[in-house]
Amino acid sequence: QTNTCSFHMSGALPAGGDHLGGAFGQSPTLDSWYPQRLRVELLHRNGVDADPLGADFDYAAAFATIDLTTLKSDIKRLLTTSVDWWPADYGNYGPQMIRMAWHAAGTYRIADGRGGAGAAMQRFAPIGSWWDNANTDKSRRLLQPIKHQYGNALSWADLMVLTGNCSLELMGLPTYGFGGGRLDAWEPDDGTWWGPEVWNPHAVASPDEMVSRDERWHGQNGDAGYDLQSPLAASHQALIYVNPEGPYSNGDPLGSARDIRITFTRMAMNDEETVALIAGGHAFGKSHGQVPASDIGPSPEKAPIESMGLGWHNPVGTGSAEHTSTNGIEGSWTPNPTQWDNAYLENLFAYDYEQTKSPAGALQWTPTDSEAPKTPDAHVPGQMYPLMMMTSDIALKVDPEYRAICERFLADFDLFTLAFSKAWYKLTHRDMGPKHRYLGPEVTIADDLLWQDPLPDAAGSSLDEADVAALKEAVLATGLSVSDLVYTAFSAVSTYRDSDKRGGANGARLALSPQKDWPVNRRTVPVIDALRNVQAAFTATSGGREVSLADLIVLAGSAAVEQAARAAGSDASVPFTPGRVDTTQELTDIEMFEWLRPIADGFRNFVSERFEEFAPGVAPEAAFLDKANLFTLTAPEWTVLHAGLRVLGSNWDGSDVGVLTDHVGALTTDFLVNLTDTDLIWTKDDETAMTFTGRVQATGEARWRASRNDLVFGSNAQLRSIADAYAGSDGQERFVRAFIRVWSKVMMLDRYDVKGHKRYG
Ligand code: HEM
Repeated sequence: QTNTCSFHMSGALPAGGDHLGGAFGQSPTLDSWYPQRLRVELLHRNGVDADPLGADFDYAAAFATIDLTTLKSDIKRLLTTSVDWWPADYGNYGPQMIRMAWHAAGTYRIADGRGGAGAAMQRFAPIGSWWDNANTDKSRRLLQPIKHQYGNALSWADLMVLTGNCSLELMGLPTYGFGGGRLDAWEPDDGTWWGPEVWNPHAVASPDEMVSRDERWHGQNGDAGYDLQSPLAASHQALIYVNPEGPYSNGDPLGSARDIRITFTRMAMNDEETVALIAGGHAFGKSHGQVPASDIGPSPEKAPIESMGLGWHNPVGTGSAEHTSTNGIEGSWTPNPTQWDNAYLENLFAYDYEQTKSPAGALQWTPTDSEAPKTPDAHVPGQMYPLMMMTSDIALKVDPEYRAICERFLADFDLFTLAFSKAWYKLTHRDMGPKHRYLGPEVTIADDLLWQDPLPDAAGSSLDEADVAALKEAVLATGLSVSDLVYTAFSAVSTYRDSDKRGGANGARLALSPQKDWPVNRRTVPVIDALRNVQAAFTATSGGREVSLADLIVLAGSAAVEQAARAAGSDASVPFTPGRVDTTQELTDIEMFEWLRPIADGFRNFVSERFEEFAPGVAPEAAFLDKANLFTLTAPEWTVLHAGLRVLGSNWDGSDVGVLTDHVGALTTDFLVNLTDTDLIWTKDDETAMTFTGRVQATGEARWRASRNDLVFGSNAQLRSIADAYAGSDGQERFVRAFIRVWSKVMMLDRYDVKGHKRYG
């Protein structure tokens, strides 16, 4: 059924007078004609202009007005109050809400930190219209009364996760805790790369779609080296994780286990957490497969306007209750799907299973033993069915490592219960970043967990103005160059990514493994040694006051920026907010920090030798845009930060590539002036087109060298316009002020201990 409105495609709109034409924003537009263009405008998505709550809205203050106990009992009451337009299975919406919350969180991917429950992106396409999110639109719509009752004191993102928790508690699982503090996004994200596409897993029979699926992968399932492209985490684009019917819908449980291990590892879960989550989640609810996918209406984003944002219209019967069709598989895993118990694992291991088909035609498994327990219909009293398992459930039984974990959980229900509640807590909080961001009375239930990248509490009294001045002087007296100091401070913050709020200077992890061992940070090692001497001297003479290495690294960089501004004739000062702490190696999960290792960092003119292997077909400047986005930079901020770092000599290898100035260490506009110099002709140094030489046109004299990350500020029309704004005769002072602003912003990116819960500023 394709009842998509024909107006969308026709383009017939009175555009003035009696001329007919297309509407604003209607395809074809810029991207249709120039699909390879660098979409710099993506940096300005989800800004204050799109936010109905405005720049001053303080979510922490609003959330604090909620009584969490009352809110939770309101949610639990809603969960057991069935409504006619979407009757609750077994009289309890809990299972479908757990699936909604799990799907919200399960988009998280460790490689770039994007996805996750943090901004309620399930409300928007593409995620909300993915095949795998079928009928999660109903779950969110069911929650609307609570959302309206609590208004903006409760974000959609918090509501969805909290409802998952309430559902688990209602059905008997003691949860591990809840932290609020998720800020909703207000528009879809059209920048994240979700990889090549197969929209409907039931349709992979088509050879074209098989190719499309395989483009996400290196090799075929079962091959050595079989792996997902980075940064993807799901086996298919429109899925949260794997095809429940097995790879290529082939019903192969071992192949399914391979996909599960890869996709859940990319979600930052180990084997034990993976088993706990799948076995724990499928203790509840059922799968819905009464009607073939081909008969189901379009997803919310494609549905007709009168559907009011709901999709997947089911034309059979009431289209809901006993007629519901969601994924296509039909049945329940346990006889009591609204009770936390160990029946999922007990039944998985007690019986042999054989393949069968659902009414919708999907491949699933049923016990060979007709005496196996039966499961009740979710709506029709007295109607009983055989147990159901998916290929991805049988996977837990056939994979040796997963099986061993299942056997431990089978033998010890308390162990399983704790493992599931901890894994659920991690799943739903993984993308929130430092614990400073968690709000509400249930946060204290949970202790420090390694995946939270813990920071110890600040010790000692805070630095005062005199300390800061003395430390700046001491740093500059070491003889370390402006370049080295700036490079080191920038390297400390460079791991930050706003996607999951990980990384940054706080904790001084730059001085710990694995960061201290990365080639891109080699230049920082002697600087950190020298700064430790400054730190020791300060401690010895300060009368009990201490400066953390993390603060000192940032302060040293800021002192160097002030020095650079002075060298360019400006007396500007750089704001400094002390309070960073030093963490320890024990509190640093090396494997999880390895995911923050850059394969490219344009700011430091670094492109890994393995860049092409890791990011085939991606231009370094596209990776640079990605980085600017993870830093939350606007296009002017990106331009100014890069231009400043270049004239301050901040290349990872100390080379002169992109250092378009004769006065390294002075905060001038030279980079932008020389980049836009019309007397220069740029040519690529070799066929890789990674470095370039700028020659004076008249004489042929080689004047500068630059990388793609440098030239993009002169070649891209939007960035070049910004370059013009600073390269002109009135640009210098504006440039210095703008650089100091963006430098301070970047140094504060991870300071959630002082930033609070305002979205902007
Ligand atoms: C339901 C697949 C992991 C919780 C389902 C459904 C499918 C599925 C196909 C049926 C949807 C429908 O037709 O209504 C998978 C696969 C997984 C996985 C392939 C990983 C390999 C998880 C996890 C959780 C979870 C980690 C939670 C921790 C649930 C719940 C339901 C469900 C509660 C029942 C929903 C309802 O009753 O409406 N799953 N799932 N699943 N899943 Fe999973």
